Amino acid sequence: MVCPYEPGKPIREVRQELGLTRVVKLASNENPLGPSPRAIDALGRSDLELHTYPDCDGWVLRDALARHLGISIDGIVVGAGSSDLMRLVAEAFVDRGDEVILTDLCFSVYANVTRLADATPAIVPLDDRLDHDLERMLSTVSGRTRAIFLASPNNPTGKAIPTADLELFLEKLAPEVVCVLDLAYNEYVDPSLRVDPARVVERHPNVIVLRTFSKVYGLAGLRVGYAVTHPTVARALLLGQLPFSTSTAALHAAEVALSDVAHTERSVVLNEKMRVRLYREFDRLGLSAVRSEANFVLVDVALEADTVFERLLRRGLIVRPVHEPRLRTCLRITTGTDEQIDLLIGMLEEALPAEGNAPTRVESASWRR
Ligand SMILES: Cc1ncc(COP(=O)(O)O)c(C=O)c1O
Repeated sequence: MVCPYEPGKPIREVRQELGLTRVVKLASNENPLGPSPRAIDALGRSDLELHTYPDCDGWVLRDALARHLGISIDGIVVGAGSSDLMRLVAEAFVDRGDEVILTDLCFSVYANVTRLADATPAIVPLDDRLDHDLERMLSTVSGRTRAIFLASPNNPTGKAIPTADLELFLEKLAPEVVCVLDLAYNEYVDPSLRVDPARVVERHPNVIVLRTFSKVYGLAGLRVGYAVTHPTVARALLLGQLPFSTSTAALHAAEVALSDVAHTERSVVLNEKMRVRLYREFDRLGLSAVRSEANFVLVDVALEADTVFERLLRRGLIVRPVHEPRLRTCLRITTGTDEQIDLLIGMLEEALPAEGNAPTRVESASWRR
């Protein structure tokens, strides 16, 4: 069954429903600094010619990306967010009755595009430490397997795949199986774990790297992402794409955002600072958190996550409960700013029972034990 994508609750809806004046959202892993100011300025320019259709295949953005990544422009496909490209992968490579390998804790669109193609997700659970069980994923490959989805860092855990493990996995994977390597949060990752899309794709023509402008580039509202892959695979992806599906505004803002290296660096530095602060605050509150390589942290609140989510929501803070049996006591929280984390921590202190006064505490997530 295809389950509708469950987005973080919109700020305006919560404000109106609960009659609140201030609502803060730390639920969708957006950049709290917003996009590059240069990208915002560029959107106001009068020469965008919005009465004309966009550059159909996003040539200007692809050209900028090709130079940025050091790869041929023929291996880049631009889409309306990386989610759109996930759909294109399924349309190009997955048929009725095929299997697609995913993990039990991953971005939900992977399962949705698989089911929309009438294929079956073959689910390989993350291991006890919430890492990809790469050996088991490899041994799950069968004659029916068409694709595998990997995310590094993964959502909702924030954990990245160690570089050597990823390389070994890709070497062992049968070349006829497409591997989607979702690097939505690549800029936030420790440099030793960061993946170079050009290098991976050069060595492994069956890999499709997915990237997005929704995270560090702060352009989630404009919907733009891209795939980096072998030119033959890129051509196959393009067959499923409707003409002009990425808008002029999105293409243009993405191109300018890509060039604003200082803004990207500021965003990464802020994220690193806020991650460290969150670990410190969670430690003080006696809560376990997964060490994250992304712009969110998974924390075990040792209570039903939905209960804590509701308590925070009523106070005007939107976070994300993880609706998976293994993580039912966990919230995924975007790193935010100091001001937002002040609010979060104050509200958590009110929402969580004091030590020794916790009748409703439930057994917490397995990875913390
Ligand atoms: C792992 C992962 N991939 C992709 C996306 C979606 O990106 P886009 O906005 O480009 O569709 C997200 C969004 O949260 C994500 O966590």
